[in-house]
Amino acid sequence: MSLTIAQQFGVPVEAARRRTFAIISHPDAGKTTLTEKFLLYAGAVAEAGTIKARGARRRATSDWMDLEQKRGISITSTVLQFTYRDHVVNLLDTPGHRDFSEDTYRVLAAADAAIMVLDVAKGVEEQTLKLFEVCRARSLPVLTFLNKYDRPGRDPLELLDEIERRIGLRPTPVTWPVGLPGDFRGVLDRRDGSFVRFRRTDHGATTAPEERLDPGRAMAEEGEAWHHAQEAAHLLDEVGLVLDVTSFRAGESSPLFVGSALTNFGVRQLLDAVVDLAPPAAARPDECGSLRPLESPFAGFVFKIQANMDPAHHDHVAFVRVCSGRFARGMPLVHAPSGRPFSTKYAASVFGSERDTIDEAYPGDVIGLVNAGGLRIGDTLYDGDPVAFPPIATFAPELFASARPRDTGRHKQFHRGLIQLEREGVVQVLRDPDGDPVPVLAAVGAMQFEVFAHRLAHEFGAEADLLPAGYRAARCTDQWTSEQLRLVRGSRVLARADGTLLALFESPYQLQRMEQDHPEWCLDPVLGAVSAS
Ligand code: G4P
Repeated sequence: MSLTIAQQFGVPVEAARRRTFAIISHPDAGKTTLTEKFLLYAGAVAEAGTIKARGARRRATSDWMDLEQKRGISITSTVLQFTYRDHVVNLLDTPGHRDFSEDTYRVLAAADAAIMVLDVAKGVEEQTLKLFEVCRARSLPVLTFLNKYDRPGRDPLELLDEIERRIGLRPTPVTWPVGLPGDFRGVLDRRDGSFVRFRRTDHGATTAPEERLDPGRAMAEEGEAWHHAQEAAHLLDEVGLVLDVTSFRAGESSPLFVGSALTNFGVRQLLDAVVDLAPPAAARPDECGSLRPLESPFAGFVFKIQANMDPAHHDHVAFVRVCSGRFARGMPLVHAPSGRPFSTKYAASVFGSERDTIDEAYPGDVIGLVNAGGLRIGDTLYDGDPVAFPPIATFAPELFASARPRDTGRHKQFHRGLIQLEREGVVQVLRDPDGDPVPVLAAVGAMQFEVFAHRLAHEFGAEADLLPAGYRAARCTDQWTSEQLRLVRGSRVLARADGTLLALFESPYQLQRMEQDHPEWCLDPVLGAVSAS
């Protein structure tokens, strides 16, 4: 299905309207609340308080997600799309639990920017740190939101120092709080020196009324609180912590906003920054490193596969990030790894747990392909001349377990489940190229194993016994190094389905020794490929 000239021409314009980002934070920092408040400010929900209700409904009807309910955490990621100031905002949600940080890494591969939400009382927590290393490694532009300023917290100047020291990202405050944490009245907008005063609404269910005051009136009305904010702003000017869009887009500095998602203070300023500062969808490099122009025919890659979104049908939805061209539902595409045609009749946009058929999409958008059983994470789909995007990098797993079916009569179901769950990236499945048929599962967080075992039992009817495999560190390696490792006791080389070789070690200490003693060996902490392409 070729595009008309008008459609082709419209692609860069549509891409320029797109803002595609993810919110990352430590659990409880306020990601869900902020997401909902974005929807409130965009007019996508009339009143805050609806998302949780929707979540509860979904959990009540979903079967494998009863695990989620038991733990009281969110495992699933959703993609929300809304319009704001004539822009199309795609918000890719990430799981809050650290055990699913692999999922977060993949979501970040599909995002053009991220918002880091920090609890002003807690600052940079360990999980935030790990995710930020990923943003840094990818040079992903990051906006920072210091949340929960409505209650007592730490000195924000101290937090700036912590962000710079621990994350290596230079925070450049765009707004600064007026009033102490717990007595939060509004923000000083450093771009024009004015005071934005907020008023609370009942339970923050509706947008907080705002009033913009010039510095003279702010001083007269807020006195000491305004004086302190101005002093801090001068100090920030002096040390050069000022908004710099170029270094933000290069992933070196982070425009910082303060607020309270609960009371809606500062939410509009942050959402405006998404539109005004975050980059639009831009041309992305293909696997050869050439930038694929936005107006090329459609191409995109799978960054997430979600099973059982509709529990009645045990279906799978593959989420595809559009990188070039215009997507029109029903257009035949090609699945890059296999070269086979791929039907897009069942394309959907997914809003929370609700689905609408999607008719068209542009670079930056995410389409959900329902019942896309044959797709794997990282796969490219394209129209026209062949193209493939680079595989999504993943990080070395740290936990390993050997897996066997409890009932050998369920051997077939066990293997079917193993293949499917590996495709979805629930766990990595490693096999011995030389023989031992018992697969070794690899994960970053222990709960990945729990989800694996639960889904294997409930969806595929195969209970599994998972036993610790005796390894505690892994590195991506090559054929030559794996020959050398054959002679090393306590290590083993296994292969993923995509051909990546992983060297496993009994302890991080053993790995460290190998790295020191054999600098010529290939032991890479970043595993290059997730897909078989
Ligand atoms: P998460 O998705 O990052 O895990 O965090 P979530 O938004 O669920 O927020 C975690 C808790 O922090 C919630 O309280 C929420 O109401 C609260 N919270 C979020 N933003 C703010 C804020 O700006 N100020 C204050 N004071 N609290 C905030 P909860 O008691 O766990 O849940 P709920 O009963 O309020 O729903």
